[in-house]
Amino acid sequence: MRKPIIAIDGFSSTGKSSISKLVADRLELIHVDTGALYRGVTYFALNNFATKDNFIDLPSLFLNLDKINLEFRQENGALSLYLNNKNIDSEIRKAAISDNVSLIAKQKEIRDFLLKLQQNFGEKGGIIVDGRDIATVIFPNADFKFFLTATKEERAKRRYLELISLGFEITIEEVLQNLIKRDKIDSEREIAPLKKADDAMLIDNTNLTKEETVALICSIIIKKK
Ligand code: DC
Repeated sequence: MRKPIIAIDGFSSTGKSSISKLVADRLELIHVDTGALYRGVTYFALNNFATKDNFIDLPSLFLNLDKINLEFRQENGALSLYLNNKNIDSEIRKAAISDNVSLIAKQKEIRDFLLKLQQNFGEKGGIIVDGRDIATVIFPNADFKFFLTATKEERAKRRYLELISLGFEITIEEVLQNLIKRDKIDSEREIAPLKKADDAMLIDNTNLTKEETVALICSIIIKKK
């Protein structure tokens, strides 16, 4: 029997990735952070196809997608993202990437390019995948589907604290504005917009700790297994 596929979608900074990682550790699953893949493509685009005025030359990027080799490698018990053999874990968290990633993620060419890559992770099951369209597009037959949300103020606070702890200089207002902008682009884009699948369970974790959200998700999975 195939091991389960668990889809975790939701708004940015609801803790999707760190919660998914903790659930993965607890239930012995592999965690796949699909946002990192969109960030990886954005990193490639900014390095190779940025215009003088800091836009991205999309037509050239689309013609060169075959030069992108993104892979997750197991390192120290976690998956690290490599672009063409270079570890880009910290590069993809920088503000320039966060500012441009939604533009990249709304392009059909990019979504098509990353679709198969993501679906390949699911072949053997035993994975928890977080993103925006996992339950609706990538794995519509996932065994468990969760959709995470929280107020935008709470999400901005969490993201701000995370970025500060990583040594980035940023204000909470800048974080909030970036988050509002990204939510809007992600939810309103034509292809695979961020939305809750009809059969996904909604979890508002505004007033839940990360640990409480993890415990809730694990208990639902264990109960149904
Ligand atoms: O989860 P994140 O903040 O690292 O995601 C970065 C961006 O990628 C986000 O703005 C939306 C996009 N994304 C997407 O469109 N589909 C996914 N499955 C995952 C992320």
